[in-house]
Amino acid sequence: MKDLQGILHEIADLVAPLCRQGEVASYIPSLGEVSPDNFGMCVAMADGSIYGAGDWRTPFSIQSISKVFSLALVMSYDYESIWKRVFREPSGTPFNSMIQLEADRGIPRNPFINAGALVVTDRLLTLTGDAAGSVRGLLRSESGNASIDIDAVVAASEADHGHRNASMAHLLASYGNLENPVDLVLENYFKQCAMEMNCEDLAKASLFLARQGVSAGGSPFLSPNQSKRVNAVMLTCGTYDAAGEFAYRVGLPGKSGVGGGIVAIIPGRCSITVWGPALGPNGNSVAGIAALDAFTSRTGWSIF
Ligand code: DON
Repeated sequence: MKDLQGILHEIADLVAPLCRQGEVASYIPSLGEVSPDNFGMCVAMADGSIYGAGDWRTPFSIQSISKVFSLALVMSYDYESIWKRVFREPSGTPFNSMIQLEADRGIPRNPFINAGALVVTDRLLTLTGDAAGSVRGLLRSESGNASIDIDAVVAASEADHGHRNASMAHLLASYGNLENPVDLVLENYFKQCAMEMNCEDLAKASLFLARQGVSAGGSPFLSPNQSKRVNAVMLTCGTYDAAGEFAYRVGLPGKSGVGGGIVAIIPGRCSITVWGPALGPNGNSVAGIAALDAFTSRTGWSIF
């Protein structure tokens, strides 16, 4: 058995100098207040054992990582129909780009760019009546932490500066690709992104993707095939126009967020979370990617 605890401590020391490379996201003003010197990492093994290092128990804003959970929920209710409304191809453009949306007549390239995530949230809203609440419920039940919640200040901060997402939602609506009112979709989307969690809870909450869809309670949440498909979309689209670089360096399905978190999955083995708020040019944590690169290189664990 590998000394995972020792490896995580070594990695935390290794990446500390990288924490000031890159920029903390400030287009959502309240995210810009977070110190770039934070770094946390957690590994949750499929057998339930947990390893952590650094600031792994400090909560942060999960942002786009929430898109994994909203997609998983939609697939759990309604396996295939979402794919009529969103493609599953890498976009090669930034997460908030609108350039392809008009060319593709209102069908977003994948569910993890903002336009695609708005469509998924819209579908979840139709299916459940409360998309953000459903995401929160899943995060709570899978992590076992019933106090996980939306950071209302972050949600309001994003809503106050959400012109780009609002324009995307209106463009989607103009193509008939929203089922609910634009304002309601945006409200749910901002709230799901503003979920505040630490590395430990996020690793536990993502573990169903390493267990072929089996939930924390032992029952199937997703089928093995659905779980495979969510992981596949994470691999190809989870880190936006850096998905190729992420696959090259880390070799795992992963999903980033502009709060500086990343979730990566080793199917059959574990989920891994990292958090370092300073982002590279593609909106992914610089220290986080370096930590995952070091982890898969040191353990030899990857999907390739
Ligand atoms: O919609 C936004 O811009 C943010 N709520 C989420 C973006 C995000 O996290 C992109 N990930 N790296």
